Amino acid sequence: MKKIILTGDRPTGNLHIGHYIGSLKNRVELQNSGEYDSYIMIADAQALTDNFKTPDKIRENIFKVACDYLSVGIDPEKSNIFIQSQISELTELNFYFENLVTVARLQRNPTVKHEIQQKNFEKSIPVGFFCYPISQAADILGINADLIPCGVDQLPMIEQAREIAHDFNSIYGELFKLPEPFVPKDKYSARLPGTDGNEKMSKSIGNCIYLCDDEKTLHDKVFSMYTDPNHIRMEDKGQVEGNMVFLYLDVFGQDKEKIAEMKEHYTRGGLGDVACKKYLFEVLNGILKPIREKR
Ligand code: TRP
Repeated sequence: MKKIILTGDRPTGNLHIGHYIGSLKNRVELQNSGEYDSYIMIADAQALTDNFKTPDKIRENIFKVACDYLSVGIDPEKSNIFIQSQISELTELNFYFENLVTVARLQRNPTVKHEIQQKNFEKSIPVGFFCYPISQAADILGINADLIPCGVDQLPMIEQAREIAHDFNSIYGELFKLPEPFVPKDKYSARLPGTDGNEKMSKSIGNCIYLCDDEKTLHDKVFSMYTDPNHIRMEDKGQVEGNMVFLYLDVFGQDKEKIAEMKEHYTRGGLGDVACKKYLFEVLNGILKPIREKR
């Protein structure tokens, strides 16, 4: 029997190049290898846990995310794309799993902790939101997945799913496999910083390059990226560390030799930001153009 892959996204907005490099690209490669049964979930019910007042937004975004999937090459002939809320057994499984997790354990989940802060939930955390790692475990175990291609922020969820599988199996008998994460090896591919230098590319921060951005938008975003604030004139010595243009070139560029040369030149002085950004635009547009056309 083929191994099973499951991944998913909350339909809260368009997918961006952080999703692409962190997970979508891997999904397409795994799908095309023909070695797996792929399931790709649009996690609308999970999206409602922190967007329960705006169901229309979630409904609209189901279609946007589905378009993003098809445009990057997820092929419905090879992968099963489905909508979480339509599989009611996942909700049922969640009900039984809730007995196996303590409040203290959920409070220790670093992703949930971080999101609670980010959303200012502190004093009034919705129960559904607080418990979403259990529901995500139901997604993963309900599909009987072996492998979860995802970004690093999902690692605590997979860890929690493994614990639930283990505890369930020891009480009720061996039923669930313990799923493994599949994360890009390179640190910045696994969590791409935003165009402004913030550690995460995120819609709520407004520092994203979307897969559906047109060429002009992409150009404008690349040209307003965070570089080295002390690199004012072309002759100035520039700093490569923390410079988003070079970080993105490392993540997305193929011509490693050229990039190494550019870094050296920039550090020594004499290479302007405009030239670097122009090259990064070419690199990114080379990836995004076929995606745009397919959409
Ligand atoms: N938590 C994921 C996200 O925020 C979405 C998701 C829901 C998921 N269920 C999943 C991811 C199961 C992997 C496996 O994008």
